[in-house]
Amino acid sequence: KYEKIWLTFGMASLVIFLLVIGFAAFWKGTHPQSHIETIDPQNVEAHEAFKPENLGLREVADGKYTVNLVASAFNYDFGTDADGKAVKRIRVPKGSTVLFQVTTKDVVHGFQVAGTNVNMMVEPGHVSRLETVMKNAGEFTVVCNEYCGVGHHQMFAIVEVY
Ligand code: CUA
Repeated sequence: KYEKIWLTFGMASLVIFLLVIGFAAFWKGTHPQSHIETIDPQNVEAHEAFKPENLGLREVADGKYTVNLVASAFNYDFGTDADGKAVKRIRVPKGSTVLFQVTTKDVVHGFQVAGTNVNMMVEPGHVSRLETVMKNAGEFTVVCNEYCGVGHHQMFAIVEVY
C-alpha cells in the first residue's frame, strides 16, 4: 500500500520537474551554454559577420560597437585597414558597449581580453558571442588561452579603450 503512495509521489515529482524544465526551455528561452549558433568552419565567410569586409570593429549605434573576428592557428583576423595591413589594434571610447563575435577556422582557441570580463572559448563550428561595457580606459591585451599548437603564444592583439 505504501509502495503505491510512493510510486504516485515519484511520478508526480517527475511530471513537475519536466514541466519546470519545459517551461524554462520553451517559454523563457533558457538554454545551456552550448546552445550557440553553428557555422561551417571550412567556410566562415558564408556567415554575414565573418565576410572579409565585415571583420573588425564597426560602430552599430551611438556608443555601440561590434567586433567580428576569425581565429585560426596562429592569428586573430580582424580584417585589414585602409592600407591593406592586418588590423591588430581595436580602439573604442570608454563606456562603449562592445559585442565580440568570434569563430575559428581550425582548432579550439581562446579569446581573452586580459583585464576585462571578456574570456571566451572559441570552438570550430560555433560562433562565440559576448557583449560587454568597456568601463576602464587602457590597453588590454587579447590572448589565446587555449593551447592550440606551436604558435599559440603568437596569437595576440590589443584592445585600446580611450
Ligand atoms: Cu590559439 Cu592558443
